[in-house]
Amino acid sequence: MNLADACDALAAARRVAVLTGAGVSAESGIPTFRDAQQGLWARFRPEDLASPDAYFRDPALVWEWYAGRYRDVMAATPNAGHDLLTRLEREKEDGFFLATQNVDGLHARAGSGTAGGRLVELHGNLTTARCEVCGQVDALPAPQDFTPPPVCAVCGGRMRPNIVWFGEFLPEAALEAAADAFAAADVALIIGTSGVVYPAAGLAFETLRRGGTVIEINPDQTELTPRLSFSLRETASAGLAALMDAG
Ligand code: APR
Repeated sequence: MNLADACDALAAARRVAVLTGAGVSAESGIPTFRDAQQGLWARFRPEDLASPDAYFRDPALVWEWYAGRYRDVMAATPNAGHDLLTRLEREKEDGFFLATQNVDGLHARAGSGTAGGRLVELHGNLTTARCEVCGQVDALPAPQDFTPPPVCAVCGGRMRPNIVWFGEFLPEAALEAAADAFAAADVALIIGTSGVVYPAAGLAFETLRRGGTVIEINPDQTELTPRLSFSLRETASAGLAALMDAG
């Protein structure tokens, strides 16, 4: 398969499933997950903060880390890659499904999930918090008004970041919907993910197993690359523009 074939396949596809990772938000200035941690957080690995053990050991430290990432995310804006995915959703309507591993909420802010298709956030969303007692999920206050930890408006319980941490299960309904969408997809796009974290990384094989086409967009080769139909060595925005405008 070459780029022209990939463009034709995407243009002809009735059902398109997309999996995104941190690379899609890199162009909005959000460091990818495996970039070195910044500044004072350099001495921590994400795994040392994004886990139930880390939280129950030192909830204030974990909330301090998420509150900082929350401020960064709210100061960021969706980039051309996010906008091109919303355009693709408008073209494919109810045949479009976007599963993101990103917790920055930028796809939702770009309008994904409201242009005729569906958006699921497989690993949660750091602009919301979840009550440890009753499970209530609420949006966090604006960054300038936010002092962690948030308190549940329903029961007064302490709220945790609404993130799927290492060792926790993904939201079952979202994962099931994603697996169904990738199984039914004519074309799947795997964009900006190192493809090392399952079950998200395994979604591509649901499409391949049923004879669908899987196209990767990533400046680097990944563990998935050799098994996919085509891999575009591009950034998310440049790769999507090449696939969509040349189609
Ligand atoms: N456009 C597209 N891809 C990019 C760009 C870009 N501008 N810049 C970097 N990338 C690619 C990198 O080459 C890498 O393959 O994005 C990928 C980012 O990989 P990770 O940092 O591993 O992030 P991700 O794949 O989203 O991690 C998956 O792992 O740590 C857990 O739960 C966490 O959701 C996260 C999951």
